Amino acid sequence: MSKFAENKEFNSKQIVTMLQNKVKPATGKLGIMVVGNGAVATTFMAGVISARKGLSKPIGAMTQYDKIRVGRGKEAKHLHYSEIVPMAKLDDIVFGTWDVYPQNAFESAVNADVLRAKDLLPIKEELEKIKPLKAAFDHDYAKRLDGKNVMKNKTRWEMVEALKKDIRKFKKANNCERVVVAWAASTEIYVPVNMEVHDTVEHLEAAMKANDTKNIAPSMCYAYAALTEGCPFIMGAPNTTVDIPAMWELADQTKMPIAGKDFKTGQTLVKSGFAPIISTRCLGLSGWFSTNILGNRDGLVLDEPDNFRTKEVSKLSTLESILVADNQPDLYGDYYHKVRINYYPPRNDNKEGWDNIDIFGWMGYPMQIKINFLCRDSILAAPLLLDLCLLSDLAVRAGRYGIQRFLSFFLKSPMHDYTKNETPVNHLFQQYTMLKNAIREMGGYEADEEID
Ligand SMILES: NC(=O)c1ccc[n+]([C@@H]2O[C@H](COP(=O)([O-])OP(=O)(O)OC[C@H]3O[C@@H](n4cnc5c(N)ncnc54)[C@H](O)[C@@H]3O)[C@@H](O)[C@H]2O)c1
Repeated sequence: MSKFAENKEFNSKQIVTMLQNKVKPATGKLGIMVVGNGAVATTFMAGVISARKGLSKPIGAMTQYDKIRVGRGKEAKHLHYSEIVPMAKLDDIVFGTWDVYPQNAFESAVNADVLRAKDLLPIKEELEKIKPLKAAFDHDYAKRLDGKNVMKNKTRWEMVEALKKDIRKFKKANNCERVVVAWAASTEIYVPVNMEVHDTVEHLEAAMKANDTKNIAPSMCYAYAALTEGCPFIMGAPNTTVDIPAMWELADQTKMPIAGKDFKTGQTLVKSGFAPIISTRCLGLSGWFSTNILGNRDGLVLDEPDNFRTKEVSKLSTLESILVADNQPDLYGDYYHKVRINYYPPRNDNKEGWDNIDIFGWMGYPMQIKINFLCRDSILAAPLLLDLCLLSDLAVRAGRYGIQRFLSFFLKSPMHDYTKNETPVNHLFQQYTMLKNAIREMGGYEADEEID
């Protein structure tokens, strides 16, 4: 058994509190069905399988490493999440996937070229067993993909029905108690919110039944199928998918959790952690230019302007909600923010990002900060995917449903109900406080840090 994320024995006082808080234990198998069997998905699956064999460590996963202080003064203790709340164990996870290409997870991982042979070969057998189901796909949503492992001639509603069947079949065949569905597939073209279609479940369903391919992206079919099958849905790309009132209503109706979108991995993680330095010290900002090069299939899809537009919208929102012009017009009233992504094949998954930050200080004197991050995209995304799956599963067992703002920490576009004038929380350290407090509360401890 893996030494990570084992559920420790809870003391009787905690068990009573958890029962009162209705956190159900994490018994049985947890199915994780990943939409997309590409670089992120296979790096994630390989890492989990490798960690449970004791061959590597799940570094970067908060659910496996982070410790939260609970109690105060002499009572204070720093505990892993699994010591505060019952978490599913890595050993209990079973993987499934859908993809446009038919290659199994081993072949796809080799193709993605993220992990070395010495890390993949010892888990070859397990990865080979993970074979993608036929994708609910529309070529117009990702023009650079031409795989043939797709559902043929299906309307959007037929896609939903087929996906629901897939989930049920997978759950039964693998004897899973619970299933989480997570999107780690390519970024779709930008779908603007259309309040005549995306406002209510009734309108959404009508559009699916009318095969409205313009307003209903394939990703919406996956989300709809997951939620109505009693599975939380996670959106790892910046697609509009669950960020519409109709899906919030569906999540409430089905009592399933949903979170924001787009894994917060490299440049945006840096931005949401670094921008608070500028705002906390009341320094001014005149410009922030972010650019990066990457050469994986994700980069290829994002090279298409309509797909890049989806990413751009997601990436731009981070700064504007941390350095707010209306709050500090002298400091943030007039800054220029630009984000570029450049497809550059030689780098494959090893993204290089540059940030040039033009700030100003005392009496308006200008200064510059340069950040050069040589990262590995999928190595950063895989632990986020694990955390989002395990924490969404926890949320279901704790009876939490609808938008889960405590998961904002992991996402570039945290979800918020804009129809109620809610604003997203992008500030990394405020997000961390929300995360810690949610875990404390689910574990029967007091939330004790204010977010202001
Ligand atoms: N790696 C990161 O740091 C990071 C950060 C944030 C978001 N993301 C997002 O995560 C997603 C996955 O990234 P990746 O590097 O693994 O990309 P990838 O291209 O390697 O894998 C995506 C896979 O999704 C498949 N696919 C596309 N549409 C599909 C559909 N409708 N149904 C099923 N499969 C479908 C593709 O065939 C492909 O194999 C992308 O949308 C990316 O923007 C990645």
